[in-house]
Amino acid sequence: MALMTEQGTDDAAARPPRRKRYHGKNPRRFEDKYKEHDPGRYAETVAKVIASGKTPAGSHIPIMVDECLEALRLKPGMIGVDATLGYGGHAARILDRITPSGILIGADQDPIELPKTERRLRDKGYGAECFVAVRSNYAGVAKLLGERGLSADFVFADLGCSSMQFDDPARGFSFKHEGPLDMRMNPTRGLSGSEWLARTDAGKLERALRENADEPRAEIIAAALAGRSMKTTTELADALRSITGLHDDEKDLTLRRVFQAIRIAVNEEFIALEAFLRSLPDCLKPGGRVAILTFHSGEDRRVKKSFQAGLRDGLFSEISDGVITAGSEERHRNPRSAPAKLRWATRA
Ligand SMILES: C[S@@+](CC[C@H](N)C(=O)[O-])C[C@H]1O[C@@H](n2cnc3c(N)ncnc32)[C@H](O)[C@@H]1O
Repeated sequence: MALMTEQGTDDAAARPPRRKRYHGKNPRRFEDKYKEHDPGRYAETVAKVIASGKTPAGSHIPIMVDECLEALRLKPGMIGVDATLGYGGHAARILDRITPSGILIGADQDPIELPKTERRLRDKGYGAECFVAVRSNYAGVAKLLGERGLSADFVFADLGCSSMQFDDPARGFSFKHEGPLDMRMNPTRGLSGSEWLARTDAGKLERALRENADEPRAEIIAAALAGRSMKTTTELADALRSITGLHDDEKDLTLRRVFQAIRIAVNEEFIALEAFLRSLPDCLKPGGRVAILTFHSGEDRRVKKSFQAGLRDGLFSEISDGVITAGSEERHRNPRSAPAKLRWATRA
């Protein structure tokens, strides 16, 4: 009897913990979507989620891949950088074009997602001879190349945050999920969204709302929120919904803009982007290409101005004529592609 009990205990220890039951048919919470989190085992479920126009939990659908590859003019043997590795969707397609003998440096500032993406790409067969993963801010991309004695045939960046960051309540990026008001792509550095808001006066918040998200009611919102202590995404969302003077039918849009503005401030996104843009001529070989995907006017304006100035100053020999956008089929399949704008430039 004693033996049976012991065996029973050992068996129980060897078994994975039981998954908890959900109310209704499907798990609703991000962390409980066990099938979506394991695309290798549940390919059919993941394919259904993608076909319904949604992004499976814990993943990211790469945007305008063919257009980006075309803009970069990739060939086998090329050396380059994906400055925003994310889930590695673009990187895998880039690696297919530049291997054998090409090298891709994949950089990302997110210490939580980067190791997972590196593992995923290694499992796909991209070894150390062709792929290097580095945790770095893209402001330092010239240094990454310089340290390795390399000049790039191409540099690619897909700006903003990934679906893994955005959809994970624990990262605090979205007003749609309750979570700590964090919003840092690299949670080991700087102030969280909550700390930033508590330390920001109305004038600075108003400027951030205007400059980072073109928020038309920046003044009222800044007066209501500045310096307040808010720990969670829901607290911020509720405080915004209760501000008088905001139209009911525009509340979700306002929430989206305010969350975007705080995220950009917390991650110092424009400071990093401007440093990255300034460094590009030093990163690229003559004839090398840069392609950048942007998702809102503050990003696109900076990329456009920098490429135009580079063309005027003779640093670039050619730049894209206007922006390239996602086709209607992709917009339908992946609504997150709708605001994307792609621009490229060629080093003189
Ligand atoms: C839109 S996602 C990239 C998705 C990727 N192209 C893919 O196919 O999976 C943007 C990524 O850039 C990273 N990122 C944003 N700003 C960054 C910065 N200043 N330096 C380095 N990485 C950054 C984010 O952490 C995020 O993983």
